[in-house]
Amino acid sequence: MFHPKLFDGKNIVVTGAGRGIGLEVARLFLDCGAHVVVHVGRRIADDLPDFLLEAQSERRAFLIAADFLQRGGVEGFVSAVRERFDVLHGLVNNAGTMVGRFPADELTDAEYETVVRLNQTSVVEVTRGLLPLLKTAGDAAIVSTVSISALTGGSAGSAIYSATKAFVSTYSKALARELAPAGIRVNCVSPGTIATDFHERYSSPEKLEATRKAIPLQRLGTPEDCAPAYLFLAAASLSGYITGQVIEINGGQLIC
Ligand SMILES: NC(=O)c1ccc[n+]([C@@H]2O[C@H](COP(=O)([O-])OP(=O)(O)OC[C@H]3O[C@@H](n4cnc5c(N)ncnc54)[C@H](OP(=O)(O)O)[C@@H]3O)[C@@H](O)[C@H]2O)c1
Repeated sequence: MFHPKLFDGKNIVVTGAGRGIGLEVARLFLDCGAHVVVHVGRRIADDLPDFLLEAQSERRAFLIAADFLQRGGVEGFVSAVRERFDVLHGLVNNAGTMVGRFPADELTDAEYETVVRLNQTSVVEVTRGLLPLLKTAGDAAIVSTVSISALTGGSAGSAIYSATKAFVSTYSKALARELAPAGIRVNCVSPGTIATDFHERYSSPEKLEATRKAIPLQRLGTPEDCAPAYLFLAAASLSGYITGQVIEINGGQLIC
């Protein structure tokens, strides 16, 4: 699909790459010759897919576990990346999840803090920590995962999660202007309803089926539907004049 040497010699970080959308994004970058820090949330799984084991043995994939909700989790991750790379060509901020569905009148301070820390604060902290390496590249790209819910507000119980995704979208637009002089482009990918563990946890089969029927393309999305957009936005040769934008990947679920 992409040229196998598109990212030859390039260093890329993908957060939240242990499964779902992030894992597929990491796989495509590795397929295109990149060296990839593959961040996983809590621990490295015992049953890693073959492509990761192979890339690890070739010293092109570097797995780093870091819980962004633990004190020092982001700082430890940033230090580990800095030990591995002295220049960074692409940062994919993808780690995040809904955490739970919290009715507005029952939301606790702890639930609020958790959703914001994971989906919003960690993106700011990882980006800040890795900016010196990104500036060194001269033509780096940041691509962050937001959500269709940043525009629609999402469904019941996801208000804070949806708002954090809107934050990351606006933050990225502001950074696009601020970092353009450093040669860094900043864009977002906004998935619609993508069939990953995410919905196993937060949506019932009935809710998912009702959503599917309302999607013009009549199916839920997959990580494979989403991942190419990240590579497109990370490659200066393909998207060098695109910055401050959000690509919506939702089968037509939202057309505006
Ligand atoms: N699926 C959808 O329909 C959908 C729609 C819109 C946006 N999104 C966004 O897309 C991104 C990927 O989601 P996905 O669907 O692929 O979901 P997923 O399968 O649940 O993956 C979430 C990723 O975030 C990581 N993560 C969770 N808690 C973490 C923590 N405390 N510290 C560090 N990392 C943590 C997970 O790491 P481990 O599993 O290794 O712990 C995992 O790699 C997320 O930002 C999500 O909000 C998804």
